[in-house]
Amino acid sequence: MDGDIIATKWIDVCALEEIPVRGARRMKWKGLELGLFRTSAHEVYAIDNECPHKKGPLSEGIVHDTGVTCPLHNFVIDLPTGLARGADEGCVKTFAVEVKDGRVLVEVGA
Ligand code: FES
Repeated sequence: MDGDIIATKWIDVCALEEIPVRGARRMKWKGLELGLFRTSAHEVYAIDNECPHKKGPLSEGIVHDTGVTCPLHNFVIDLPTGLARGADEGCVKTFAVEVKDGRVLVEVGA
């Protein structure tokens, strides 16, 4: 076989309306727990729901611009990159998201 084939899988997670504006919801899929976040501009991001600091549930944090503040100790995670902002260090895995016909699709891998 020539080259590697990287399998990906898009799953239909929910309707866009099921994620509150400037809010989040949690999803589980095959051992993954993701936070889905919707900004005031109606962009949707999916990241690992576990804070890189001490595993706080990011989907219970406060969404502002394109970031979320962890509810436990206030790390701010940048939703597009998954990186901690400011002086804090750490990052969470990000997942590609597509909103199509009012449905939210997330790429979760094979
Ligand atoms: S667990 Fe998120 S800031 Fe500490």
